[in-house]
Amino acid sequence: MNRIVITIDGPAASGKGSLSKKISKELNFYYMETGIYYRGFASLFYQNQVNILELPSFISNLDINEFKEYVIHNKKKLYSTTVTKLASRLAKNLDIRTFIVKIQQDMIITLEKQFNGIILEGRDCGSVVAPEAGLKFYLTARLKVRAERRFSQFVKDKRDISYEQVLSDLKERDVQDKNRKHSPLQKPKGAVVIDNSDYNFEETINIVKNIIFSRIPTLKNKI
Ligand code: C5P
Repeated sequence: MNRIVITIDGPAASGKGSLSKKISKELNFYYMETGIYYRGFASLFYQNQVNILELPSFISNLDINEFKEYVIHNKKKLYSTTVTKLASRLAKNLDIRTFIVKIQQDMIITLEKQFNGIILEGRDCGSVVAPEAGLKFYLTARLKVRAERRFSQFVKDKRDISYEQVLSDLKERDVQDKNRKHSPLQKPKGAVVIDNSDYNFEETINIVKNIIFSRIPTLKNKI
């Protein structure tokens, strides 16, 4: 791995998605939202009404390029409540994880030359997908703060859901993501831990950027 690889893991609604997107753009890094592949898989699984017993043959018949295309072209519907909950449940499954992690690792290897590096954001990026990453972050915030942020986003998007429901869905996903046997959400070894409960978006960005520039000073000359 000779390209700069940065991982940002953390629980749902910790702000890692918006942060990774913004920083990738500024630093000319490729941004990989790893959760979208679990969402895409869940959406296909649901659409095809796959029985869990048929999972191995469903996976072996999935064409990797078609799967990647599906994920790219169906982003909007991958954020429905049904897909979100199913993605978290299916993400426990080792066969599914193996299929998806391989796709993500291949994408790191074949990263286009135009990018200075890659930022991977998710749950197992620093621990499993890219354990040799040059810099790892673990971004978190208190559950209630995360629920409030997610709820205000839903209000903006005119989604019909109560704050209590958002809080309980996040709690359920936290439990599932942290307690599963394979690749649970964890603070990767050596990761910089940032609790942004008391920081706004801009403040969090500045903290993360300062750490990136102090750890990888050569990056300053590339942007
Ligand atoms: O990050 P996002 O909320 O889109 O992820 C959807 C679900 O996919 C998560 O709840 C988690 O269970 C799973 N996921 C995962 N490993 C990742 C990214 C996401 O298990 N690296």
